[in-house]
Amino acid sequence: MYLKRLILKQFRNYQEIDISFKDGNNLLIGENGQGKSNILEGIYLLGMTKAFRSVLDQDLVQFSKDSFFVKGIYEESEMESTITIGYQQGKKQAHLNDTRITKLSDLIGLLKMVLFSQGDIQLITGPPAIRRKFLDMTLSLSSKRYLEQLQNYHKVVKQRNSALKKMGGALSQGYLYKIWDEQLIEMGSDLISSRIQLFEPMNEITKSLFSTLRFDMKDFHLSYRPSIGKINEDGSLKDQFRKKLKENEGKEIQYKQSLYGPHKDDFSIRNSSVDFKKFASQGQSRAGALTLKLAMTQYIESVHSCKTILLLDDVLLDLDDQKKEPFLELLGGRQNFFAATSLHGLEKIREESQIYSVQENRVSEGYTHKA
Ligand SMILES: Nc1ncnc2c1ncn2[C@@H]1O[C@H](COP(=O)(O)OP(=O)(O)OP(=O)(O)O)[C@@H](O)[C@H]1O
Ligand SMILES: [Mg+2]
Repeated sequence: MYLKRLILKQFRNYQEIDISFKDGNNLLIGENGQGKSNILEGIYLLGMTKAFRSVLDQDLVQFSKDSFFVKGIYEESEMESTITIGYQQGKKQAHLNDTRITKLSDLIGLLKMVLFSQGDIQLITGPPAIRRKFLDMTLSLSSKRYLEQLQNYHKVVKQRNSALKKMGGALSQGYLYKIWDEQLIEMGSDLISSRIQLFEPMNEITKSLFSTLRFDMKDFHLSYRPSIGKINEDGSLKDQFRKKLKENEGKEIQYKQSLYGPHKDDFSIRNSSVDFKKFASQGQSRAGALTLKLAMTQYIESVHSCKTILLLDDVLLDLDDQKKEPFLELLGGRQNFFAATSLHGLEKIREESQIYSVQENRVSEGYTHKA
């Protein structure tokens, strides 16, 4: 699968650009603030329906305009398809070929992609929400059913929370929120089981990646930490979930929110038996995060038996020189988009890459910069 052509109109700093890409490596080179990440963001929008640096679609609209339009033409198994996403009056509208896609999330998974950015270090150093998002993205890109179940689950949590809020922390006003419990347990347990099954393959993949990348992390290990407690292998997951809710009724009412379930889970990362999140150096954290993203990529690819597109926003900076080469080798065989301020570190792949110069809100083929 690869993206052949990208058209951006009134999107971020671009009035209108139309770029053709090749399968393999595409290098977007330009100085700071010229619009490299904005191109990656346009591509990411087509695959994931959202921007990666902003929660607001409005931020993607070129300053002083009121709409944007993004179009991508991609090829898969020698078939060409077109995804378009337009934004106007606070709403996004999407089309796949000529068909209107009413539920935007139906686009997720068509153009499979993984973004690598410097913010990934948050996977190690950041709060649990970042790691949950990582689990959810990995599983959603692997299974449409997971994504749908996740969306339904979040709706139930929202309803349940709003019922808990209405109680205002008082124990005496009935337990209206409880009408949501069975759905919470049913959908939540389904998500938890999918997450449980992810950890074994992820641990195998990270182990092999560390050895290829020559990262000295022999006992790196990820373990799932569900908020309903350590999974009791003999019993039923749903019973365990139900019991947790029962035992903590007072607490949920007091805090006025749903405190247990997949929306509160986390995973631990240990290396040589210590908490990696606490004790890793800056460089180790970056290496750990990069490896998790590569593992995510390989896992998704193993499920679908096809390669994903990789968006690499200035991440080579994070690697010392002897690790750059095996890293670039691992990326091979896919369509990759590298954004970087120079070709430093990319020399090895320069020959077989298409280079684009990004300058003053324009993108041109070839390398027009000073060496
Ligand atoms: N909605 C918008 N309308 C117009 N310009 C915008 C909008 N959003 C961002 N920009 C501008 O786009 C420019 C390019 O941003 P971008 O993040 O793509 O740069 P970059 O080339 O990745 O730089 P760096 O090397 O620093 O990461 C910035 O100057 C920013 O102010
Ligand atoms: Mg950038």
